[in-house]
Amino acid sequence: MYPISKMVALEVALSAATIAIISALAMRWYQKRKKQRPPTTWEPVGVVKHLYIYPFKSGKPIELQTALCTEYGVKTSEAPNLHQFRDRSFVVYNEHDEQFQTARTIPQLVLIEIDAVDENRIRLTAPNMPILTFKVPNSVENRTVTVKQHFNEKISTIDCGDEAATWISQYGSKDGTGLRIAYHEAKQRRNLNATHKKYFKLYPRLSNEATGLHSDFSSYLLVNESSVNDLQDKAPEANIVPLNFRPNILIEGAPAFSEDDWEWVKIGDVVLYLVKWCTRCVLTTVNPSTGIKSELNEPLRTLRTYRMLKDVKKISLDGTSPLMGINMGYHSGERINVGDVVYVGK
Ligand SMILES: *[C@@H]1O[C@H](CO)[C@@H](O)[C@H](O)[C@H]1NC(C)=O
Ligand SMILES: *[C@@H]1O[C@H](CO)[C@@H](O)[C@H](O)[C@H]1NC(C)=O
Ligand SMILES: *[C@@H]1O[C@H](CO)[C@@H](O)[C@H](O)[C@H]1NC(C)=O
Repeated sequence: MYPISKMVALEVALSAATIAIISALAMRWYQKRKKQRPPTTWEPVGVVKHLYIYPFKSGKPIELQTALCTEYGVKTSEAPNLHQFRDRSFVVYNEHDEQFQTARTIPQLVLIEIDAVDENRIRLTAPNMPILTFKVPNSVENRTVTVKQHFNEKISTIDCGDEAATWISQYGSKDGTGLRIAYHEAKQRRNLNATHKKYFKLYPRLSNEATGLHSDFSSYLLVNESSVNDLQDKAPEANIVPLNFRPNILIEGAPAFSEDDWEWVKIGDVVLYLVKWCTRCVLTTVNPSTGIKSELNEPLRTLRTYRMLKDVKKISLDGTSPLMGINMGYHSGERINVGDVVYVGK
């Protein structure tokens, strides 16, 4: 038996330890909650110069005056009797292994234009190709297919039929066969749990809710025009334009690369949160108006001289990809207009 005084001391020590543990847990909970909650003070940093949607992944953007914002990314405004496009809802994939295809391997995809014929039909045009019109498929009547994206992430989507497959193969494949087009209806969230564990660890705001349809990563990409201007000054011969970086939201008036510090952004009534700085790949070297890859490997070559990741763990995931723009997720709100003031909160 311990003397009474020792038992009391032990109990005091135990309860002190319990209190310490409980307050540490409470603090962690509080900080996590704070991270998930938008701030209450906002500071204006610039205005929206351009809004873009890329309904066809790797294809030409459609420029918007108003972007409807949804949890899956940007959507075009309602127009009577016209299909409402969503960002990256159409994707090219290989028939034989169902791997997605982009302008990284098929640069001329950047010249494909998409528009709506009516509520159910869309049209694709590309240089030296007949115009393709097809009915947007749906998961009730048409064949679903599991397309594989980065890290073999499997995305359930819908095949767009043989006529579209023939067209895209003729345009994008060397032997004229083997490619197909798929369409994502935005009725089901992607699931990164099996494929992106390492990213979840390093980027706490990444979640399934932050993903777009067939986007590489999150549902929104925001680029600060001054950061692109700064790059243009460093590599004037490289012919870089903001569209090399395929932003949804291009902001003017903000100082270069301050976007690295933006945790929360408010534009119009829309609130977005930072998921990850965007690491850039060879797709940015494809000239968006000619579909030709830069022989100088620009803008990557110049960006690598001053815009590399610094965190060793992040480097182990994203290697030597330099940074431009920020991947954002959707928190709330409905509409962003060109000319809206951009606010930042921390
Ligand atoms: C989807 O199903 C409808 C109804 O059966 C059919 O008319 C259409 O051709 C199908 N579309 C594709 C792309 O297979
Ligand atoms: C993915 O993982 C998260 C966190 O563990 C979990 O809450 C969620 O239900 C999982 N989602 C799916 C679709 O499995
Ligand atoms: C945008 O980029 C410019 C030039 O790089 C920079 O000075 C500015 O701070 C950036 N603005 C924001 C809001 O990040």
